[in-house]
Amino acid sequence: MTVKKFYFIISILLVSVLLVNCSNETEQAAEPGLLLGFSQIGTESAWRIGNTRDIEEAAENKGINLMLENANQKQENQIAAIRRFIAYQVDVIAFSPIVEDGWDNVLEEAKSAGIPVILVDRDISTEKEGLTSCLIGADFYKEGFMAGEYLVRKADSLGLEHVNIVEITGTTNSTPMRQRQAGFMDAIAGDERMTVIESIDGDFLKSRGAENMRYLLETYGEDIDVVYSHNDEMTLGALPEIENAGFVPGKDIIIISIDGGQEAIDVLKKGKINCVVECTPKLGKILMETAVKLKAGESVQAVIHPEEQIFSDEMDTSKISPRGY
Ligand code: AHR
Repeated sequence: MTVKKFYFIISILLVSVLLVNCSNETEQAAEPGLLLGFSQIGTESAWRIGNTRDIEEAAENKGINLMLENANQKQENQIAAIRRFIAYQVDVIAFSPIVEDGWDNVLEEAKSAGIPVILVDRDISTEKEGLTSCLIGADFYKEGFMAGEYLVRKADSLGLEHVNIVEITGTTNSTPMRQRQAGFMDAIAGDERMTVIESIDGDFLKSRGAENMRYLLETYGEDIDVVYSHNDEMTLGALPEIENAGFVPGKDIIIISIDGGQEAIDVLKKGKINCVVECTPKLGKILMETAVKLKAGESVQAVIHPEEQIFSDEMDTSKISPRGY
């Protein structure tokens, strides 16, 4: 065999191997015909935008047809979207409920139509059995608990005797609001140094974080030792107000946030936030895998919580890798 012929045969073999691999990957990834209706809450935070992007990318990678509807922060828009998904006879419905109550009727309709429903990110509250197949989302209670545990450690390390806390909460009656509050309160319960002087609804919005912080500073001024904020967006709104009032965030006032988006992590690195508990928006891959199983009639795990961590001034923050949201 000539050298030329030898190289020709090798190239043919390489091209064939590449083609076989590519077609296998496409076959594994594609879920042709699966139509998933997803009702997203809105665009209130970097977290939410990252979550939407992650779900879109995961659907594309898996070859799933995604009908995505943005509810612009309104429960009635989510209910209308779910009704459209039912009328459209999608294979699976997924949604992130803005609040916990008020879903029974529309979910009964999905059940009667035989369409499985996946809860993404947040839970619902209902007395009825079997309205949803599973919940894929963070353990918000644990997030709140980790935030409270951090504060106890911080108070110990600073030798504080009295700790006045203001809490800026997420949307009233939403799962993260309820559970982040409950976890935090449980973690500080029994520690007589701790007093929550006011809890106020900031609706997970930056503008409300700023507005609430202004009010809290006017009302309590230098009595505030700690701001516990239920998400990064509200924290980022609150920080300039604290500085405008003449206080140094991270030093005069301990700042605790939740989400772990890039912007908050950058501020943590500068020392203006003391602690950020992670809440990952990367739920897309597991959502798609679960939708495929449900369409195939397979059983799925009732509750799926992603692993999460805590970032704080107790660690070397320069080692935190890029967050992607
Ligand atoms: O439900 C998750 C919460 O909703 C995130 O903490 C917040 O940023 C988002 O808007």
